[in-house]
Amino acid sequence: MQNNKIFIFDTTLRDGEQVPGCQLNTVEKIQVAKQLETLGVDIIEAGFPVSSPGDFNSVVEISKAVTWPIICALTRAVEKDIDIAVEALKYAKHKRIHTGIGTSDCHIKYKFNSNREEILETAIRAVKYAKRYVEDVEFYAEDAGRTDNEYLARIIEASIKAGATVVNIPDTNGYCLPGEFGNKIKYLFENVKGIENVIVSCHCHNDLGMATANTMEAILNGVRQAEVTINGIGERAGNTSLEEIAMILKCHQHLGLQTNINTQKIYSTSRMVSSLMNMPIQPNKAIVGRNAFAHSSGIHQDGMLKNKNTYEIMDPTDVGIDENSILLTARSGRAALKHRFSALGIKYENEQLDNIYQKFLKLADKKKEINDDDLMILAGIDRKHNHHIKLEFLQFTSGFGIKPVASIGLNIAGEKFEACATGSGPVDASINAMKKILTNRQMLMKELTIQSINKGSDDICKVHIQVENEGRLYYGFSANTDVVVATVEAYLDCINKFVIN
Ligand code: KIV
Ligand code: ZN
Repeated sequence: MQNNKIFIFDTTLRDGEQVPGCQLNTVEKIQVAKQLETLGVDIIEAGFPVSSPGDFNSVVEISKAVTWPIICALTRAVEKDIDIAVEALKYAKHKRIHTGIGTSDCHIKYKFNSNREEILETAIRAVKYAKRYVEDVEFYAEDAGRTDNEYLARIIEASIKAGATVVNIPDTNGYCLPGEFGNKIKYLFENVKGIENVIVSCHCHNDLGMATANTMEAILNGVRQAEVTINGIGERAGNTSLEEIAMILKCHQHLGLQTNINTQKIYSTSRMVSSLMNMPIQPNKAIVGRNAFAHSSGIHQDGMLKNKNTYEIMDPTDVGIDENSILLTARSGRAALKHRFSALGIKYENEQLDNIYQKFLKLADKKKEINDDDLMILAGIDRKHNHHIKLEFLQFTSGFGIKPVASIGLNIAGEKFEACATGSGPVDASINAMKKILTNRQMLMKELTIQSINKGSDDICKVHIQVENEGRLYYGFSANTDVVVATVEAYLDCINKFVIN
């Protein structure tokens, strides 16, 4: 086995997609999967097929759409899960089943009301069962981070004997200290018979901010597959971020370890995932945050002008940040727009290009310079054109010493409705007016987040909303240079998700 290659296993479409509000439809998942293929990931975890028909279908369609990476489907150590995963992977050119079970005493006792011996038998049965259908079987020992090392070694050895080709050691709860996690991996290499014949993987969560450090410690102790997500998205505080591992290994060439990642595709992939999942990237996020390469203090700027090495350990162009990218304005043509979108991983042609160009012109009229973040937002808004309930118009008056009032026009499946209302402010008045039209829908706003993107009073603001309907939470997003319009549109984005007619 090639011992200096680190396999990159991307779970953005499975662990990342579990994040509330980040759900993608099948077309969007295919778009991300193809981008991951271009980025050079070795394995794409495409979903958990038994969890829903939507997840099943996505694994089927991704399997058809993607050629080179292995397509992996997650299961519990349950035969029915494995049967459904096998079916979903039917069209995959290279396929893997990822099956496993919780192995910490806490999981064994409270999740399964079982004991170590029974769990060991269930794990062996699941691996053997999966092995009947696919050659490549990955076994995960959930909560391995908190699993007793001796028992972990026994269950990993048993899974290898049963046929596992990859064994995954997850720090499910992001609990371990880096040294402790590294020692766990070392212990397994020293105590598990047959471990030299399989790939050892790690899957770290970021609950204490140590996911990347733990993954690196694991790699330094022999792990050769890193399970990661774009922008570090994932359950709770997220997973290890792909871009961090790829760039650590690139910057520390002395380790002699390589990945297949084309790092120049990192930036466009990061922006695509952020935009499709409506998941903003924190400005100081390593590698892909807006400020990751911004030098603001006078001393730093002075150093940078003298020699970039003073404050830059990597070249922004290595992660695909094009410093000379054309700044788009209302005078830019279709070709420039198409070129910029394509650098961000989005292809527009013909009629689609015309449509997005018209939206671009409208935005450029309001905002002088259009940057990549603005473009990704435009692309996101473009995806909403087939909403069932659309905003036709919105007018509001507010100010000091007057009562805010709003009138609104909605188009519901082609029929037009109008209403007006007052409120505590223009947002409240607009939403009250909207609710007067949608009287038969039960909805309760649970959260409203308003964020600006860059600087300046002409900036686009992004609005994330959570609305509860019949006990379920729905997530909506919109962006506009007008904060009130953005809020109403985000609200409608939510409503469109639970309204059928
Ligand atoms: O965090 C975890 O343990 C997981 C497993 C299903 C691999 O996501
Ligand atoms: Zn996980």
